[in-house]
Amino acid sequence: MRVLVVGSGGREHALAWAIARSPSLTELHAAPGNPGIAAIAHCHPVRADDPASLLPLARELRIDLVVVGPEAPLVLGLGDLLRQRGIAVFGPNAAAARIEGSKAFAKEVMDAAGVPTARTLPVARPPCVVKADGLAAGKGVWVCRTQAELDTGLRAAEALGQPFHVEELLEGPELSVFAIATGEEAVVLPPARDYKRVGDGDAGPNTGGMGSFSPLPDVPDAESVEILDLIHRPVLRELARRRTPFHGLLYAGLMRTEDGLRVIEFNARFGDPETQSLLPRLDGDLLPVLAGDLAQPPQVAPRAAVTVVLAGGEYPERGDSGTPIEGVDAAEATGALVFHAGTALRDGRLVTNGGRVLNVVGVGLTVPEARTAAYDAVSHIDFAGMRHRTDIAANA
Ligand code: AMP
Ligand code: GLY
Repeated sequence: MRVLVVGSGGREHALAWAIARSPSLTELHAAPGNPGIAAIAHCHPVRADDPASLLPLARELRIDLVVVGPEAPLVLGLGDLLRQRGIAVFGPNAAAARIEGSKAFAKEVMDAAGVPTARTLPVARPPCVVKADGLAAGKGVWVCRTQAELDTGLRAAEALGQPFHVEELLEGPELSVFAIATGEEAVVLPPARDYKRVGDGDAGPNTGGMGSFSPLPDVPDAESVEILDLIHRPVLRELARRRTPFHGLLYAGLMRTEDGLRVIEFNARFGDPETQSLLPRLDGDLLPVLAGDLAQPPQVAPRAAVTVVLAGGEYPERGDSGTPIEGVDAAEATGALVFHAGTALRDGRLVTNGGRVLNVVGVGLTVPEARTAAYDAVSHIDFAGMRHRTDIAANA
């Protein structure tokens, strides 16, 4: 099978790494990819959010399956465009990707499907959460515990110029559960947890994700099957009923509240950086499952994985570029996986090229072992201004 991975982050490097191990793979391509992906795939300088250029690329390379990493091309209709031309895609059509692209649509589907989520509030009063409707790259949510925070949140939401709504503030630990779906059929991956805030102890602003781990001490792998039945299946059925069946990865961002599990959000793609901790836990061939054959889902091995994100010094305010990176080979020599995100090659040297630069993944029999392996590998890597959290999976 000839596969094209679309995207350039740590999630896409992890996907390319898993696909590269498949016996059914004949050629692996990426658009645009990154220097880490380039070590295992042919990279092409086509942007992920440029469907009009991805279609001719997929045709020219005679691609059998396009695996789409990020949400933006899905919401723009890359899935529809490729499917119309007979090219198989991992990732939903635009109508089903609205489950991520519009929070109002997601709420409407959840209500129709009877899936538990935060209640929409008729009046904005703290504590509450203000949410912009459309894609906002993690910057469209304001958690408001005080009137001052609410005033700031409402002003910021209005400034975005999108519709927004106000919902109840839920409390409890968060978890991410991914299902790979072909319409109403689905297989589920084990629960993972990510760390959204930039600083240790969840201090500072939200980011794209500073680390992740799996399995979770508080939600055993086996519980994911119940979560699939409670959360994902009703939504998949509802989307199919509306004649917009979901093919791809349905990501449920959940909170375990005192009243049980509630959905915080749905995404229409693999989570980043949860994927980097999940794929190393799987044995067997991921590629047939991505291609829509759910008969032999990959087995979950009794292994743990911990991912630590190495970011630029001014992340999340701004990215970093051109700073030389040292020690990736030494980190890999410890046995850890290093997935590239914001990196580039300049005159043959690896340099920074983005906010989140590298993902270092430690694997072990237990979470503490995996955590030690991850941080040991991190200690070999350095670039000017490098920042990372030191508490990923610390209380697991
Ligand atoms: P989202 O962009 O929907 O993933 O929201 C980003 C983060 O805001 C989530 O990971 C939660 O930590 C927080 N959040 C979103 N909605 C709620 C809610 N209803 N109650 C509490 N926290 C929330
Ligand atoms: N890990 C959060 C996300 O992928 O949206």
